[in-house]
Amino acid sequence: MKTDKKLFIETYGCQMNFSDSEIVASILSENDFSTVDEASSADLILINTCSVRDKAEQRVWKRLKELRAMKKKNPNLKIGVIGCMAERLKDQLFETEAVVDLVAGPDAYRDLPSLIDAITSGQRAANIQLSIEETYEDVEPVRYDSNGISAFISIMRGCENFCSYCVVPFTRGKERSRNPETILNEAERLFNEGYREITLLGQNVNSYHWEQDGDSMDFPRLLASVAEINPLLRVRFTTSHPKDLSDKLIETISLHPNICRSIHLAVQSGSTSVLEQMNRKYTREWYMNRISAIKALLPDCAISTDIIAGFCGETDKDHQQTLSLMEWVPFDYAFMFKYSVRSGTIAEKKFTDDVPEAVKAERLKEIISLQQKLSLRSNKKDIGKVFEVLVEGVSKKSVHSMMGRNSQNKVVVFESSTSKPGEYTLVKITSCTPATLIGEHVN
Ligand code: SAH
Ligand code: SF4
Ligand code: F3S
Repeated sequence: MKTDKKLFIETYGCQMNFSDSEIVASILSENDFSTVDEASSADLILINTCSVRDKAEQRVWKRLKELRAMKKKNPNLKIGVIGCMAERLKDQLFETEAVVDLVAGPDAYRDLPSLIDAITSGQRAANIQLSIEETYEDVEPVRYDSNGISAFISIMRGCENFCSYCVVPFTRGKERSRNPETILNEAERLFNEGYREITLLGQNVNSYHWEQDGDSMDFPRLLASVAEINPLLRVRFTTSHPKDLSDKLIETISLHPNICRSIHLAVQSGSTSVLEQMNRKYTREWYMNRISAIKALLPDCAISTDIIAGFCGETDKDHQQTLSLMEWVPFDYAFMFKYSVRSGTIAEKKFTDDVPEAVKAERLKEIISLQQKLSLRSNKKDIGKVFEVLVEGVSKKSVHSMMGRNSQNKVVVFESSTSKPGEYTLVKITSCTPATLIGEHVN
């Protein structure tokens, strides 16, 4: 195949966006584009964007300003904005940023070749049409930035949960599941190519559902089928919504040692009244019940979460409930954010963003410092234990050390002269930091 045009993709946001960038690279590889590692050598730069918080969008606006200079130097350079921010802000992107030649939303990537044709002849081009059926299921992603060991597979797109703070249902559209056969084929192909870890992706994987000719497939069955490809293949998934986390899913994990002992279950808040305001459709007690169910069947399972500080109407008492829930679980890891109003969402239309910025910041600080304590405590508990680690490569901190992850998704750094990337090795933990386990290779 002739590949004489250079494409650079810069990705922001969630793992689904990273997975989409691989789909975009694949679609454009059919169109004579090959990906390059540096923006400076590209003919086309695509910025795959995220809208989930204001900060995510600000970063992209800043990046676009930087690209002005690059375009001045190279007037033939074309720049496209794709992804969630493209979906949300097409007109604003064209109006504010003269460098933007092309805008494409998350369901319009098959149209990129014709949009590129249009901009090559000097016009600006856009497609932000959302779809009810696009899953790109037949597109074989180009894993252009891969370590050759871990890969992501999108199993569904969109979200219809409409959490009141969240922009995703508006940028990604209706929820739709991908044909399971295409998922299994992709997973099998990856395993045969040497990949040893697959993460199944969706905004709420628990509501994965596929039906054809009277046959149906739900998420636990799909997960089991991927795990059964080979015991040497580790399987992860993200993300689960607590309202849909079923006993059947927990049982499925317990029956498959190669489904990782790590569940990401975004709680957002520990207060039932805030959860109601967020339209999360569960209570504090329901969340605790799901955690207890996980612990009963999977005692060594790590639990991570997302937390929002300072949502509309959040009182100090609500905030204390978040802190107490964090301790009760206790979470091994968390992504923590200040609430950021997103236009078009239910919260923006119906509620007042009434927690002062300084209070939001203070609450977030407390949440982060508690989580640091919990993460360190969780890691300290692992000292003396032996874990099976999937080796990913040489450690960033020292060329004499290797790094990998255990089933709980914790990063493990260890000395070894024999371990090779893609292999499983046993490591005994001897010390830790809040973010890393440190150990030695045992035979
Ligand atoms: N579908 C996933 C979340 C995807 S968005 C889930 O429900 O688990 C990732 C995280 O961003 C959310 O869990 C939430 O914690 C955070 N987030 C989303 N909208 C936000 C907003 N407006 N302000 C602050 N954080 C937000
Ligand atoms: Fe957003 Fe809620 Fe959907 Fe997650 S489940 S993407 S937080 S609307
Ligand atoms: Fe961001 Fe879109 Fe993902 S808003 S979090 S890139 S689905």
